[in-house]
Amino acid sequence: KKNMQRNKQVAMGRKKFNMDPKKGIQFLIENDLLKNTSDDIAQFLYKGEGLNKTAIGDYLGERDDFNIKVLQAFVELHEFTDLNLVQALRQFLWSFRLPGEAQKIDRMMETFAQRYCHCNPGVFQSTDTCYILSFAIIMLNTSLHNPNVKDKPTVERFISMNRGINDGGDLPEDLLRNLYESIKNEPFKIPEDDGNDLTHTFFNPDREGWLLKLGGRVKTWKRRWFILTDNCLYYFEYTTDKEPRGIIPLENLSIKEVEDKKPNCFELFIPDSKDQVIKACKTEADGRVVEGNHTFYRISAPTAEEKEEWMKSIKAAISRDPFYEMLAARKKKVSSMKRH
Ligand SMILES: *[C@@H]1O[C@H](CO)[C@@H](O)[C@H](O)[C@H]1NC(C)=O
Ligand SMILES: *[C@@H]1O[C@H](CO)[C@@H](O)[C@H](O)[C@H]1NC(C)=O
Ligand SMILES: *[C@@H]1O[C@H](CO)[C@@H](O)[C@H](O)[C@H]1NC(C)=O
Ligand SMILES: *[C@@H]1O[C@H](CO)[C@@H](O)[C@H](O)[C@H]1NC(C)=O
Ligand SMILES: *[C@@H]1O[C@H](CO)[C@@H](O)[C@H](O)[C@H]1NC(C)=O
Repeated sequence: KKNMQRNKQVAMGRKKFNMDPKKGIQFLIENDLLKNTSDDIAQFLYKGEGLNKTAIGDYLGERDDFNIKVLQAFVELHEFTDLNLVQALRQFLWSFRLPGEAQKIDRMMETFAQRYCHCNPGVFQSTDTCYILSFAIIMLNTSLHNPNVKDKPTVERFISMNRGINDGGDLPEDLLRNLYESIKNEPFKIPEDDGNDLTHTFFNPDREGWLLKLGGRVKTWKRRWFILTDNCLYYFEYTTDKEPRGIIPLENLSIKEVEDKKPNCFELFIPDSKDQVIKACKTEADGRVVEGNHTFYRISAPTAEEKEEWMKSIKAAISRDPFYEMLAARKKKVSSMKRH
């Protein structure tokens, strides 16, 4: 009878947890159904019986010192030894639902990367490498499997996108190829408690293509190959050029549609300023790198549809997405290691 009473209370605790994780845990502790230690709580969440995975993610994502301890204990319950990074991520991302906020994701993925590197010493130079590659894989999953993404990266592109992330050095091609194939053959499954599949959180807005650019001093239109990445617009004379003709950092800029004799135009400008020159650089014909002399950049897309897509991607890049900032900061740290 006592057992039945106890089971009933545990069931009630789970229900409470699913509605409000903190209150649920408190209820279980107060009724002596759970010990108030990070290890016991982590154990309870790891088993996850009857628990909503969104609620688990919310509890593990809390900034409180105690919750961070629980997160660490929870991740330590995962055994990643001899799993490749994709296999480990599959296990990890299935055990709870990743919350949508950048800082929570950052903490959770950092803890994951530490655990993975602890279980698999020598695979990566540092946990930063593991962290960055984990995101590259999550984004690859979206690029390969989301029907809205038309441009599917090849394995070669995946390899080249991950150049230099191993503390300035390259990871073995075999390793990257294996991870790519694994995701290609089987997308990540994640708990979809609320129907949202995180694609939005991780959608990579980067794009590339031909556009026309109006000159700064000489008002002529030039055809340039544009690449949007890392919060910058790069433009090249030819797709195969190694060095860009110009770089426009998008920080502090705004974008708007404009009318011109050319069709499908938009403009990058500094809000609330008329004559301020946009911080940017370009390469002169003789190879010198000079500051740009644009108070605005006017750009024309080949079709109305491409104009919309470029504007959407640039807006996403400009909108200070904390998720991209967090990843960009980590990449900067890793790529600077080579130079030091
Ligand atoms: C559990 O312990 C933590 C600190 O160790 C404390 O802040 C918290 O109030 C305790 N919770 C309960 C329900 O006793
Ligand atoms: C889990 O919780 C989320 C958020 O409260 C809710 O939207 C979802 O329906 C719940 N899932 C299940 C299976 O109960
Ligand atoms: C991987 O892609 C699938 C299919 O688009 C999607 O349902 C899933 O949520 C993605 N996983 C992650 C972690 O983004
Ligand atoms: C953007 O604005 C901030 C604050 O005004 C300034 O510190 C920063 O240098 C600006 N960045 C660029 C690239 O102009
Ligand atoms: C930039 O352009 C303005 C006029 O558009 C011109 O007066 C100025 O000299 C130019 N500056 C440079 C560095 O070329």
